[in-house]
Amino acid sequence: MDKFIIKGGRPLVGEITVSGAKNAAVAIIPAVILSDEPCVLENVPDISDVSISLKILHEMGADVETINASTFRIDPRGINNYCVPYESARKMRASYYFLGALLGKFGQARVSMPGGCPLGDRPIDQHLKAFTALGADCNIDHGMVDVSGKLVGNQIYLDVVSVGATMNAMLASVKAIGLTVLENAAKEPHIVDLANFLNSMGADIMGAGTDVIKIRGVGKLRSTNYSIIPDQIEAGTYMVAAAATGGDVLIKNIIPKHLEPISAKLEKIGVNVQEFDDSIRVWVDGPLVKSNVKTMPHPGFPTDMQPQIATLLTLAEGTSIVTEGVWEQRFRYVDELRRMGADISVDGKVAVIEGTGELMGAPVKACDLRAGAALIIAGLAAYGITEIEDIYHIERGYENMDLKLQGLGAEISKKSFQEEVDIIKEAL
Ligand code: EPZ
Repeated sequence: MDKFIIKGGRPLVGEITVSGAKNAAVAIIPAVILSDEPCVLENVPDISDVSISLKILHEMGADVETINASTFRIDPRGINNYCVPYESARKMRASYYFLGALLGKFGQARVSMPGGCPLGDRPIDQHLKAFTALGADCNIDHGMVDVSGKLVGNQIYLDVVSVGATMNAMLASVKAIGLTVLENAAKEPHIVDLANFLNSMGADIMGAGTDVIKIRGVGKLRSTNYSIIPDQIEAGTYMVAAAATGGDVLIKNIIPKHLEPISAKLEKIGVNVQEFDDSIRVWVDGPLVKSNVKTMPHPGFPTDMQPQIATLLTLAEGTSIVTEGVWEQRFRYVDELRRMGADISVDGKVAVIEGTGELMGAPVKACDLRAGAALIIAGLAAYGITEIEDIYHIERGYENMDLKLQGLGAEISKKSFQEEVDIIKEAL
């Protein structure tokens, strides 16, 4: 019910620090279940998907202690329940990682089947294919997915390059008997981070980050202190925001290698990008020019940056074509951008953007997480006021986005639903 109100047209200038990666955290938190001892996780982002994951662990019997805002000690030894109920699971699609983690540890799991999604069809057939290959029985019954069995390593070929299925196959096989060879695996940075986390507990995983991952099952996983990688997509979002506002921003706590597909595309659009060891400077001193973008699994241009880069291209000179190569429906935000003056036509998975060079503020609605981030970028670049509704989508994956942007000089504030009610009451 809360809204962001943005007064746009101001270049972002200054320094900003990126938080831990959402898509690594939502897999690593359930992965703690596999440990036989407590684990400490650092650089955990303060976002609602993380709070939900920690709440699920707590509800299942784990002891979750907050050491500071980004560090948690999790003791999984009290877990006495293998079921993630609908009420918790429905709030976060990534709850499917509890399937792999519980199955890998206890040989059984029951998790609510993930529901519909604004990105289109999101089947979990490849997750179940992997569990079945390891010897599990998988059943979907009354909206719940039940998996159980004594797991034995096997060869698994994923028919689709899937981040979630790759992570779930790793979680399930890490304690299975013998060797698992996972082929056509996804290669995103968060896959490598999950493997590094599991290896730091004593797992034997090789090849993460390539399309063949070998997992030799181990009997016991021990305590670890692990720091989650910085969020590639949060960093990319601030890179695009800096470019869209004609700003000059140093983005800190990043891994430049993870940003290469984004940096390369920004440079083609006419944005300056300078890499340092763990930071990256982005600034604009000339016109933005058209470019074509096709999203692909890593190391291609990330789908989770598609709405943000498309927004930038509305400000560039010329006609750009953006092709979505991962999801069925990831252009639902286009109607909102049109309200802000963008000239975009969509045909299936292809959007044609006629750069208009400017956007104007308007009331808009975030329809999903990255769509919301794109609308924030649009609002920052537009002249006039933009009001963004349904910002709970944004808060699922961006830590304190309003405060971080304020630190760069942005005029953005959060208006709570209660404040609006109070204003209306006063006016009556
Ligand atoms: C992860 O989703 C991310 N979510 C998504 O980020 C991201 O867009 C996506 O990977 C692609 O990079 C998390 O990590 C929590 P997939 P995931 O399985 O794992 C098809 C964001 O904004 N597929 O790689 O669910 C599927 O339909 C979010 O942060 C099957 O056909 O994505 C899609 O077309 C949104 N069968 C493609 O594969 C399956 O069993 C890739 O999906 C699984 C997937």
